[in-house]
Amino acid sequence: MKIGFFDSGIGGITVLHQALRFLPNEDYIFYADTLHVPYGEKPKEEVRQYIFNAVDFIANQGVKALVIACNTATSIAVEDLRKKYDFPILGIEPAVKPAVQNCEGKRKKVLVLATNLTLKEEKFHNLVKSIDHHDIVESLPLPGLVQFAENFEFSEERVVPYLRDQLSSFDLKQYGTVVLGCTHFPYFKNSLKKLFAEDVDIISGSIGTAKNLKRILETRNQINDGTGEITFFKSGYKVEDKDTLTNYKNLLAMLDDLV
Ligand code: SIN
Repeated sequence: MKIGFFDSGIGGITVLHQALRFLPNEDYIFYADTLHVPYGEKPKEEVRQYIFNAVDFIANQGVKALVIACNTATSIAVEDLRKKYDFPILGIEPAVKPAVQNCEGKRKKVLVLATNLTLKEEKFHNLVKSIDHHDIVESLPLPGLVQFAENFEFSEERVVPYLRDQLSSFDLKQYGTVVLGCTHFPYFKNSLKKLFAEDVDIISGSIGTAKNLKRILETRNQINDGTGEITFFKSGYKVEDKDTLTNYKNLLAMLDDLV
């Protein structure tokens, strides 16, 4: 059986990329809800409906596990999804804990970048409250990066000025770790690196999610010996158009250079 991956758009490919490193012989379904992206700027109830529709579709394909490769969708729906389906469902959340551990000794701060919806959610506030005992965690929504990614616009010439503008009120030298709290953001790691101190760590939760996925499949004795085949879906239909498939493969290749 295949493993399902779900995102509002192409951000989840950054998590799939990690899963392919840890589980190269699995077969995957990747579902992007491109009709409704971006989730992070829409009302929560509307987004919940999109998520349940998409996960129903994926469940009907038959999967042995599902990764919600979207921070926004995880924040607002992962617990309820787990109640509805009987296969394991993994989410992804901002890697605040390793970021705080990394910064405390260095007397540096943590900056969490995500969508508005993720940062507004109680799940995020509770996470920060349980870990940030010295008030070193700050956050900033960067919805523009989701748009850049969905438009396949990754050039530093376009992205860096946007980031510079959004970060203009921050003293960037103070941050020891930047947390990528949206799965669309790892594509822009090199652009972000241009703005922060040289020794800044830029991290995301995707490695943790991929390791967790492997652990769960091992525990359930469900590791496959497949070919690493990926079937892509976009908001309810299978992607067969060669250009789009090439674009997705190019994204995976681009991520190889960013690790
Ligand atoms: C979005 O659709 O706005 C981005 C989703 C995410 O948090 O990864």
